[in-house]
Amino acid sequence: MNHRPRVVVTRQLPDVVEARLAELFDAQLNTGDIPLPSSALGHALRHADGLVVTVTDRLDAEALDVGPDGAGIVANFGVGYNHIDVAAATANGIVVTNTPGVLTDDTADLAIMLMLMAGRRAGEGERHVRSGAWTGWRPTHMMGTRLTGATLGIVGMGRIGRAVAQRARAGFGMRVVFWQPNPADLGGLDATPCESLDELIAVSDIVSIHCPATPQTRHLIDARALALMRPRAILVNTARGDVVDETALAAALRAGRLAGAGLDVYEHEPGIHPELLDLENVVLLPHLGSATLQSRVAMGMRAIDNLVAFFAGKEPPDRVT
Ligand code: 8YV
Repeated sequence: MNHRPRVVVTRQLPDVVEARLAELFDAQLNTGDIPLPSSALGHALRHADGLVVTVTDRLDAEALDVGPDGAGIVANFGVGYNHIDVAAATANGIVVTNTPGVLTDDTADLAIMLMLMAGRRAGEGERHVRSGAWTGWRPTHMMGTRLTGATLGIVGMGRIGRAVAQRARAGFGMRVVFWQPNPADLGGLDATPCESLDELIAVSDIVSIHCPATPQTRHLIDARALALMRPRAILVNTARGDVVDETALAAALRAGRLAGAGLDVYEHEPGIHPELLDLENVVLLPHLGSATLQSRVAMGMRAIDNLVAFFAGKEPPDRVT
C-alpha cells in the first residue's frame, strides 16, 4: 500500500489510542461518539482500508458485501464478535480480529462484583438509602445470601471463566464447578467439570455465564434451565445478553424462584426488558465488563497491533477468521 491506510474508527476511543491511530493511519475518528448509521458503516466498509468497530456496530452479510475494493480488515474493539457475520466477512475476503486477554481480569472482577451485589442486595440497599426510606438498623433488614463457601457454576471455562474461578476459590473459598466442552488446560485450578449444563445448574448456588454468543448458546438459560436452578440461587451474566431468555428470567425473579441476578449485558442493548427494570432483586449494569481505563487502552492498542500487522502484509495476532 503506497498511501497511509485509511482507517475508520466507529466510536470515540481513549485519547492515547486515538492519538496512536492518527499517528499511524489516515484515521477517521468519531469525535462526537454518535454510532454510525448503517449507511455510513456500509460506506466505510466499501471505501476504507480498515475499520475499528465495537459491539454497537452490526456488521451483517449485507453490510459486508463490499466487493474487491472494500476494506481488508475489521479490527473489533472487544473480545466478543457476535455482532459481526464472520462467515460473510471471510466470503468477502475481510479479515476480522478481536482483542482477547487484555480485558479478562476486569471482566472477572465485575462478575464477582455482581455476585456480591446480587447476593448482598447492594443495589436495593443503595436505592433504599437514597430514597430516604431507611429507618435504621434492624436484625432482619435486607438479609442476603452468603458468597463465602457457596458453590459457583461457571458456564464457559475460557479465559474469563477461569479468572472468575480463580477469584472465587482464592477470595471466597467457593467450590467451583464448570461446564465447557473440551476445556483448555486449567493450570492447576481447583474446579470440577460437569457432564452437562443441567448437572451444573442443579448443584450451583450461583451460575455465572462466560460463554460466547453463538446460535448454539442462544437462550441457553431459558425457562427450563431457570426452573432447574436451586431455590434462591443467583444468576450472573457478563457475557452476552442472547445467552439468557430475559422474559423467562424476569418471571423467575418476580416469582422469587431465584434470590437475585446480576446482569451487565442484555438481549437488545441498550433496551432492557421492562419487567427487569421494575424488580428490586436484579442488579443492572450498562455493559461495564471491560470499562476501566487500563482495559480500554489495552483493547485499543491491541486493535492497532492487528491493523499494523495486516497492513504490513503479516498475519494479525488476533485473527478470528
Ligand atoms: C467491550 C465486551 O466493551 O469485549 C467484549 O466482548 O463485551 C466489552 O468488554 C465491547 O465489546 C466493546 O466493543
